[in-house]
Amino acid sequence: MNEQEFLPISGTDYVEFYVGNAKQAAHYYQSAFGFQPLAYAGLETGLTDRTSYVVRQGKITFVLTAGLRPDSEVTKHQAKHGDGVKAIALWVDDARKSFEEVMSRGAVAVEEPTVHKDKQGEVVTASIKTYGETVHTFVERKNYSGPFLPGFIAWEPEYRPEDTGLLYVDHIVGNVDEGEMNKVVAFYRDVMGFEQLVSFDDKDISTEYTALMSKVMTNKNFRIKFPINEPARGLKRSQVEEFLDFYIGPGPQHIAMATHDIVHTVGEMRKRGVDFLSTPNTYYDEVWDRVGGIDEDKKLLQENSILIDRDDEGYLLQLFTKPVEDRPTFFFEIIDRKGAKSFGKGNFKALFEAIEREQERRGTL
Ligand code: FE2
Repeated sequence: MNEQEFLPISGTDYVEFYVGNAKQAAHYYQSAFGFQPLAYAGLETGLTDRTSYVVRQGKITFVLTAGLRPDSEVTKHQAKHGDGVKAIALWVDDARKSFEEVMSRGAVAVEEPTVHKDKQGEVVTASIKTYGETVHTFVERKNYSGPFLPGFIAWEPEYRPEDTGLLYVDHIVGNVDEGEMNKVVAFYRDVMGFEQLVSFDDKDISTEYTALMSKVMTNKNFRIKFPINEPARGLKRSQVEEFLDFYIGPGPQHIAMATHDIVHTVGEMRKRGVDFLSTPNTYYDEVWDRVGGIDEDKKLLQENSILIDRDDEGYLLQLFTKPVEDRPTFFFEIIDRKGAKSFGKGNFKALFEAIEREQERRGTL
C-alpha cells in the first residue's frame, strides 16, 4: 500500500441524526422516504440517556437518536442545533489503523478506538472531529453478523411501507463559516488524504442576490464525496448564512441520495408528503437546448419539477427537498446519474433562486 492510500474507505457506513423525537423521526423516514426498520437501542437494551432507531434503504443507513434526559449530550446538541446530522460514519477495514493514521496527521479525537461486543461478534469504532460539532466515526464491522452494531436489537415492527428506490449516498455537503472553506478542505486533504475534485467560486454560484463558494473533496475510490460550502458576499443573505444562523454554526447541509428512476422516487415521496422545491416553467423553456437528448419523458420531468444538467460524461437529473425539520437547515437531494459525474452546475442558478423564494417567505433573505 503506498502513502496515498493510508485511509482506504469502503463507503458511507451510516449517518446519525440527533433529533427531538427519534420514534417519530423514524416513522417519517419509513412512511415518507420508504426506509425499512432495522435496529433499535434504548431503555430496553440498557441505555439510560438516549434512544436510537436505525432504518435502511439500499445501502443508506440512518440512525435517528434522541436524548432521554436534559443533561444528555444528545439533548443538548438538539437544543442548540435543532434536528441535524451528528455523525457521518465511514466503513473501513481497520478502525484502529484509520484512527492512528489520521491522528498522526493532526486529527482531533472524539472517541479512541473502542471494541463493542455481543453474541454476534464485535465491531471496532473510533471517532474524530470534522467541521462544527460534526464527527466522523470509523466503523470496522468485518467480524460482526448482527443487524447493526453490538448493543442494538433487531427492530421488527409490522409497519413497513414500500421503499421508494433510494440506493446509496452520493455525496454529503457541509456548510462552514465565511473564510473557513479552505481550512476544512485542507483537513480533508492533509488529514484524511482526500483530493479536490472540483471548485466553484461565487461567479459560478450566484444569483442577482446571493452567492456562495464550494469545493468538492473526494476519497481515492470516489465513494465518499464531501462538497464544502462557505457563504460569499451578495446583496442579500445567502442560504448558507441562513443555515449557519439557524444551525448555530457549521454542519451538514444536505445528503444526496441516488436513484435509478427519479420520476418514480420523487413521485412516491411527493405522494407520501415530502415537500420539494419548485422549479419555474421558464426553466424548461431553455433546458432542453442546453442538455440535448435524454431518455426520460420530458413532460414527466417538468411535471415533477426535476432539474437536468449535462457534463462531458453524460447527464444527471436532480431535485431538492425543502428542509425536513422546523429550522431552515438540513435537506435532501435526490440524484439520478446517467453517466454524469458532476454536481449540476448548470442548475445552480435555478436552484438558488428556488431557495431564495423560500427564504423570502420565511423573511430570512
Ligand atoms: Fe448536492
